[in-house]
Amino acid sequence: MSDFTSGFWPIYISVLTLVSILGTWVFLKSQTTRKFAPGEKAELMEHTWDGDLQDLNNPLPRWWLGLFYGTMIFGLGYLALWPGLGNFAGLLGWTSKGEYQAEVKAAEAKFQPMYAGFMQQDVATVAADPNARAIGKHLFLTYCSQCHGSDAMGAKGFPNLTDNDWLYGGEPDTIVATITNGRAGVMPAWEPILGAQGVKQVANYVLSLSGRKHDAALAEAGKAKFAENCAACHMPDGTGMKALGAPNLTDKVWLYGGNEATIIETISKGRNGVMPALTQTLGTTSNKEAKLHLLAAYVYGLSQKQ
Ligand code: HEC
Ligand code: HEC
Repeated sequence: MSDFTSGFWPIYISVLTLVSILGTWVFLKSQTTRKFAPGEKAELMEHTWDGDLQDLNNPLPRWWLGLFYGTMIFGLGYLALWPGLGNFAGLLGWTSKGEYQAEVKAAEAKFQPMYAGFMQQDVATVAADPNARAIGKHLFLTYCSQCHGSDAMGAKGFPNLTDNDWLYGGEPDTIVATITNGRAGVMPAWEPILGAQGVKQVANYVLSLSGRKHDAALAEAGKAKFAENCAACHMPDGTGMKALGAPNLTDKVWLYGGNEATIIETISKGRNGVMPALTQTLGTTSNKEAKLHLLAAYVYGLSQKQ
């Protein structure tokens, strides 16, 4: 595909390129003096510099001229074979995309047999294989670390994958499903419904669930509101629901933060954490399934160590 949006520029650039190459040729030709006949001597030119530095009109050295013409011929040859002149694709039909695809194909062919072996084992078995873990780590650094961190410990809004605390579940099948299809956590905004005071009450009740410092009176007032509005997703006892990715609010692990201000912000404005589907990221590469398998095994293995 051409990067040009107008038909004028490719022609303009091509003409400019060719004219400058040919122009250099003509200029060089016009400045080249003939070879001296036998006995003929170089004349002394009129200038003298630095006291005794003189200028002779010797012809340019042949090897130097040859080099110069050589670069011009190389330039013209290059422009004929490879893309360079406006929209002209070059006689070889080379494209950067084509080269990339050929490299990807070669790499896939190289890894195919190794991947095929892993595909025959289940996620838990692959997770125990040090070679598979090394490959999984590379894949993780490529596809996942920008959000979950290179140590997979996550950050605010991006879950830690090394602990054994799961939003959606840590069984091999669940991890595969999470990675394959992505996840979208939907925590509604409650300020419009509960008001600022209502949010403060329910937030203090949430603090009490994990035994954090809280205002007992506010928490007491928030209890009924929690049962009415939150229990459907976070369960009546606040332990969460994996089918929805609604976090357990009774433990010490927080996705967004467990201090009062952050909890109030979460409840007031809601949260919408999105884990992208890897099927899109990995596109159509033929080893997509194997990469998914190895990534799932790597993530599974991370949490099994503790
Ligand atoms: C664009 C950022 C982003 C990338 C890239 C990303 N993730 Fe996620 N991931 C998230 C977010 C955000 C969540 C939490 C979703 C939610 O809040 O519901 C998540 C959730 C998860 C979960 C569920 C954790 C649990 O507790 O149930 C797993 C497993 C996971 N990611 C693995 C991966 C793997 C493996 C990769 C690389 C292939 C990856 N993620 C790439 C942002 C990302
Ligand atoms: C529709 C289901 C649903 C309802 C109803 C709901 N939540 Fe949530 N809640 C979620 C989900 C899903 C998340 C995770 C959001 C994400 O992954 O980005 C969440 C996250 C949270 C968090 C953040 C926890 C952390 O680890 O940082 C808190 C706190 C919370 N909810 C409290 C409440 C309270 C209080 C109510 C009632 C007023 C409530 N939720 C109602 C689904 C719900």
